[in-house]
Amino acid sequence: MTKIFRAALTILVVITFVYSVLITANEVSSSLGVVSSRSELASQAGIQALEQGGNAIDAAVATAFTLAVTYPAAGNLGGGGFMVVYLADGSSYALDFREMAPAAATRDMFLDENGDYDSERALRSRMSSGVPGSVAGLLAAQDKLGKLDRQAVLAEAIRLAENGFQLPDDIAKRIRDRRDVWLRSEGSKQVFLKLDNEEYLDYNASELFVQTDLATTLKRISKEGTKGFYEGETADLIVAEMQRGNGLISHGDLKRYTSVWREPVHGTYRDYQIISMPPPSSGGVLLVQMLNMLERFDVGELGFGTLATMHLMSEVERRAYADRATHLGDSDFYPVPIDELIDKKYASKRMGNFTPDKASKSATIEAGTVSVESLETTHLSVIDHEGNAVALTTTLNSGYGNGYVVEGAGFLLNNEMDDFSAKPGEPNQFGLVGAEANAIVPRKRMLSSMTPTIVVNKEEDYLLVTGSPGGSTIITTVLQVVVNSIDHKMTLYDAVASPRFHHQWLSDRITLELQGFDPEIIDDLRSLGHETVNRTTIGDANSAQKIGNMIIGVSDPRNEGRAVGLENTQNSQ
Ligand code: GLY
Repeated sequence: MTKIFRAALTILVVITFVYSVLITANEVSSSLGVVSSRSELASQAGIQALEQGGNAIDAAVATAFTLAVTYPAAGNLGGGGFMVVYLADGSSYALDFREMAPAAATRDMFLDENGDYDSERALRSRMSSGVPGSVAGLLAAQDKLGKLDRQAVLAEAIRLAENGFQLPDDIAKRIRDRRDVWLRSEGSKQVFLKLDNEEYLDYNASELFVQTDLATTLKRISKEGTKGFYEGETADLIVAEMQRGNGLISHGDLKRYTSVWREPVHGTYRDYQIISMPPPSSGGVLLVQMLNMLERFDVGELGFGTLATMHLMSEVERRAYADRATHLGDSDFYPVPIDELIDKKYASKRMGNFTPDKASKSATIEAGTVSVESLETTHLSVIDHEGNAVALTTTLNSGYGNGYVVEGAGFLLNNEMDDFSAKPGEPNQFGLVGAEANAIVPRKRMLSSMTPTIVVNKEEDYLLVTGSPGGSTIITTVLQVVVNSIDHKMTLYDAVASPRFHHQWLSDRITLELQGFDPEIIDDLRSLGHETVNRTTIGDANSAQKIGNMIIGVSDPRNEGRAVGLENTQNSQ
């Protein structure tokens, strides 16, 4: 088959894929501001904040609190996350509200009597919860950079929890699928099942979903600020929930929790500035490192979805994820060599052994297995009319965290402790391996892959705000949205909708979305020595972009999210 014919076939396959997802797509444009998130009601809460005179930070905080009500799989009060902010005056901020290990955590707490990793304890017990950071983080961001008051940004979340909302099909199904999880504890039964004549029934799609206890907790936060969560009644309820099982979080842990403003990771890619999240997320460092490695190649010329590009990007990803396993952890506890890892000279050295016609091999140690991905995490993007931008990713870790709702408080607990390296060389639920840098230490924050990112080109009045859920695939999803936008010059919609692939060093294979890539190119990748596996979808990159006065919001067509624009919105799809 000639190269030209093959290139034409690749373009056709991509166009067919993009067209096939177009029917569920959501893209909006507005000169006044957009919010893109996994829940239409949450995006609308953000737009309401803008309508009330709030800025992008107010909108992001209102959206995130509302996601805790309308998207309980990952929106949360009992989890944590990261936020990257770019203000129209050129300043940038990174806020770390990642969960922390409780003071009573120990290095080997997830090892059984034989010294083996115990996934039940690490993922599905109360012991799997880190000290939640979301409430502290969202309030800190709003307090420092927002314009509205706390009550205003919490009002819509409270209203939706108290009055209820109609459960969308997909969420009702996911809740029904977890019936056994809810039946394990009183708090979870009360929220996710309906008591009828002493029988617990499932919720159906379109039923009104009211969360009275959650509304009460949100009201305490609205009235008292962080004290309404980390002290007093909510803290008592969290500690009581811990004591119903093997949970470790104490009153002291809650009282001492603080979010941390950190210096964002700054990089450049061609003519663009990259602003992303530093440790304890590995996201920003790996993103900049991978872009540095790619910058030496004319990726646009190599083409989207071609053998050359897919091989190159897989080799870049392999090298970056190998570094992640060894060097990345909470920089408050471990000397992460950030500057070296994001240095362009280091990238050039790292690609010294790259060959364009042969796959390299990851280490010979036994490869970890990657579990089936669920949408563990969720990302929202906001740009307001002044050009302030927020990228915010938040999570409970697994979908619905460890499945335990704090009885009487109405919110789910995270199982984020599994993001520590429980046993060096042993894969976690994402198949990621780690070492000393990410070992469990009391009050340390577990390594993350969350990559809230803002790309800036001031001369062109250009902003791209993106991020994604997907555990280990978060960073490569963000990489592809950035490369699609900059190198392949795609519209935001196409940059988000185009098919994705992923390599994470171990397991030594490329994971590809089922639809969208040319099967012949996949065969060619295999002949270079790459192993490949398929996955239905990768990531959920709800994104926003500003080019001059036009602000565009796109929710990832792989899922049921929605981008909403302020006032003069024209729904283009
Ligand atoms: N829990 C997924 C992450 O933080 O990367």
